[in-house]
Formats: sequence, structure tokens, C-alpha cells
Amino acid sequence: MIAIERRDPRTQSQGVEPGYAQTDRRWPAQPLIRRPLGASELSGPIEVMRRLQPVRGDLAGHGAKRAIGQLIHLRARVVDEDGAPVAGAAVEIWHCNAAGKYIHPNDTHEAPPDPNFYGAARLVADRDGLIELRTIKPGAYPVPDTGGWWRPPHVHFSVWGRVWLSRLVTQMFFPGEPLNEKDAILNAIREPEARSRCIARLAPTEGGPENALVYDYQLVVRGRNGTPAMP
Ligand SMILES: [Fe+2]
Repeated sequence: MIAIERRDPRTQSQGVEPGYAQTDRRWPAQPLIRRPLGASELSGPIEVMRRLQPVRGDLAGHGAKRAIGQLIHLRARVVDEDGAPVAGAAVEIWHCNAAGKYIHPNDTHEAPPDPNFYGAARLVADRDGLIELRTIKPGAYPVPDTGGWWRPPHVHFSVWGRVWLSRLVTQMFFPGEPLNEKDAILNAIREPEARSRCIARLAPTEGGPENALVYDYQLVVRGRNGTPAMP
């Protein structure tokens, strides 16, 4: 077996990030080993969508049940390293509410929950690898005990394709957010071009759904231009 370089530090998170205490538990401490692809990579979760039903293509709600916040329509394509769609991929999505609050016991931020917003969805990519989600734009939130680090608005993604090679956990950011410049997780990706691929693109506002800003995004599950993994 041949030891290979650590992941490319310019285009993937470099690993242990000063000031972000959890990173030392999330990245390999030992050099990676190259070996031929085997059944553990070329196989995948069997009938994952039969066991995990799609839920909530609409997180924003309507009328009296409408979540508070700027309505957005997220269009994300799941593709492989050749740009071919990963049809049938199960895409789990979660984000905080417009005040920066998650519904999770670990979220001790004093921001208020929104009774009309749960914040998690599971969708299936169509033939073109596309998933679409109607939701509200998440707020920024402070990271506890960091002396002023605020996470910029972001959306978490977990992708399950047909094979384990298309497994991806990452985060999507919004264009033009000043907090993007200092976010420890986004900036653990050193290469500006790779960072820019983690930022959604605002679609032209003419022709979109009423009252919603449309954001386009691409999830590249592997390869040289693969979307950086972000826990
Ligand atoms: Fe988050």
C-alpha cells in the first residue's frame, strides 16, 4: 500500500483549524493510504429512498403557517466529476431559521424558534440531478465560546448517491455575505476558486417564483472539482 498526500489543502478543508475546537476530531490524524477501489466504494446504500422517505420539499409554509424570513427557492444539481447528473441521489438538507436558531438540543443560542419552521428536508435528485427546495434564508448565528465567531448564513447538505464514492457532506453559502470572509469553516479551504464553488449564485430575479429569490447551486460529489466536504 502506498501512502498518499493529505487531501489537497488548497481545495479541501485543511483539517485541524485553529480556533475551531472540533476539527481535530473530524479529520484523519494519520496519512491516507491509496488502494484499489473495492466493493466498499463501488457499492452503496441499498434502496436508501425506500427506507428514508422524501420529506418536506417546502420548509417555508404558507399563509398563517408561513415561516418568518426572506423566501428563497433553492435549485441544486448533484453531479459527478464529469458533470453527469447523479440521478436518484438522496439529498438531506438542514438549516437554521431566520433568527439563526436550529431546532436541536445542542443549540443553546437564545434566538427564538419559529413555530412554523422545522428546518430539515430530504429530497431525491431527478433525472437531471436536480433538487428544488422552497424555504427561507437562514440567519447568521454566533458560535459559542469562540470570542465573536459568527457563522454566515449557510445550508447544510448530506448526499447519498448509488455508491459510497458519491457520499458528500457539505455546506452552501450565500453570495455577498460579509461573514463569509472570516468564517473558519469556509476559509479552511485555502483556494479562493474552490471557496467560490461553495457559494450559491443568485439567479436573475425576473421570472422566478413570486416573492422568492432563486439561488442556483451545484454539488459535485467527487473529483478534482469536487465540492469541498464541510462537516
Ligand atoms: Fe450550521
